[in-house]
Amino acid sequence: MTLQKDKVYTQSEEMRTVITKLDSKLTERFKSQMSIAPYLSRKIVSFQGNKARPAYSWYKYKEAFSAGLVEYFLSNYEGGTQGKVLDPFAGIGTTFFAASEQNIHADGIELLPIGQEIIQARILLEKGLSPNDIATLELWINSQPWNGFPEKVPFSTIRITEGAYPSDTVEAIERYRGAMQHENEKIQLILRLALLCILESISYTRKDGQYLRWDARSGKIRPGTKPFDKGKIQTFASAITTKLREILFYVTSHQTPTTLFPVLRSKCNIQLFPGSCLDILPSLETETYTAIMTSPPYYNRYDYTRTYALELTMLGLTHEEVCSLRQEMLSCTVENREKDLSKIGPEWDAVLDTVKNQQLLNSINAYLEYEKSCGTLNNNSIPRMVRGYFSEMACVISECYRLLKPNARLFMVNDNVRYAGIGISVDLILSDIAKMLGFKVEKILIVPGKKGNSSQQMGTYGRIPLRKCVYVWKKR
Ligand SMILES: C[S@@+](CC[C@H](N)C(=O)[O-])C[C@H]1O[C@@H](n2cnc3c(N)ncnc32)[C@H](O)[C@@H]1O
Repeated sequence: MTLQKDKVYTQSEEMRTVITKLDSKLTERFKSQMSIAPYLSRKIVSFQGNKARPAYSWYKYKEAFSAGLVEYFLSNYEGGTQGKVLDPFAGIGTTFFAASEQNIHADGIELLPIGQEIIQARILLEKGLSPNDIATLELWINSQPWNGFPEKVPFSTIRITEGAYPSDTVEAIERYRGAMQHENEKIQLILRLALLCILESISYTRKDGQYLRWDARSGKIRPGTKPFDKGKIQTFASAITTKLREILFYVTSHQTPTTLFPVLRSKCNIQLFPGSCLDILPSLETETYTAIMTSPPYYNRYDYTRTYALELTMLGLTHEEVCSLRQEMLSCTVENREKDLSKIGPEWDAVLDTVKNQQLLNSINAYLEYEKSCGTLNNNSIPRMVRGYFSEMACVISECYRLLKPNARLFMVNDNVRYAGIGISVDLILSDIAKMLGFKVEKILIVPGKKGNSSQQMGTYGRIPLRKCVYVWKKR
């Protein structure tokens, strides 16, 4: 401890002071690019903005941004509406479908099978349905052929999904899956889409940030916690017929009603690359894209493989497969082990050296390691997660730079975070890394209204506002 004026500073406080100074310095450097963007509401940068949009709202993917956001950026920046757009973290494909509605080709990468499945089903539906397909779906809605169907196809469970549905719902799902097998592949994909879209509403669970929250009716009550009541749990028949009706209505109202053959709604190509963007980006051709519109996982410790466990197991994933997906995800949870980035992309060594030159990040890393050594972190893997997140993001950014055509832009939605009493300016650190990798940081657009902290953090350190931003970087 050192004495300074009348105040006693601990090493932690000194390190935090250094971080605050470096943060202010970086803020000063990007001051002219930073502005509050009144047209960017919390609604438009999140799934909320899709609620009234058919097709985009079928599957509630809380991590999605809105189609309106994609439309805004692609149409308000020069070059956005020509050529081909890329989204390396495609989610349920908002970028794809919003781009294609504006007649822009789009490619995307998504790791989670739930996102891949939703995208594939929507691509198929964009191509329309034949009168036969429509008649089959109407029959499923009106006659509910799974009722009493002799064959049952059970679905897998893992520890965190066991007992997620009432027993009559399990029975109905298994018979639905049994009956579904006798349909053609296209109808199966649509029936599976509807099933995935309703799982949460017919279960005892609710997606809640980092994990699944369980209704007390499930009998799973964590000792010491207040029993949770999620409200009405829908019956299988009512939820599935409503969803199938919604899908069918959308498709029939978007294609010419009298055609014998399906009508292509858009002439645009949408291509999904399933897998990790860390593996796939290096295989894509240099200077292909006229824009990149994306939102990486925020490193808020939310584990998608837990919150989407019902859907992943319904798609047949085993415990081992879910665990291995967790490791492939961009490091944003404390469970992520370090990835061997030099092995994935040997040319990334130079990129990783660049990250080492980011002063603010270095001081944050040093502080977190120090706090770990003092035993004050609520999880000792936080320093590894923070290092992993920025290293992996730097590799993604360098690939994006290579893939963009000259003068093309990258738009990225992301949140700042807070760990161990320090706000981490993800926007400034990533923008600085992007600058070192060749981008011109044109704008850091701040979404009005500040997001608070976790209740745990607030109790310890008080409320400090966190920025949510859209970064606009241009390839020089
Ligand atoms: C914030 S969400 C993007 C949502 C998307 N903008 C949408 O509107 O649906 C981030 C996505 O990145 C995906 N993801 C995480 N790690 C990935 C990786 N290594 N490669 C590709 N996708 C990944 C997650 O599964 C998640 O769907």
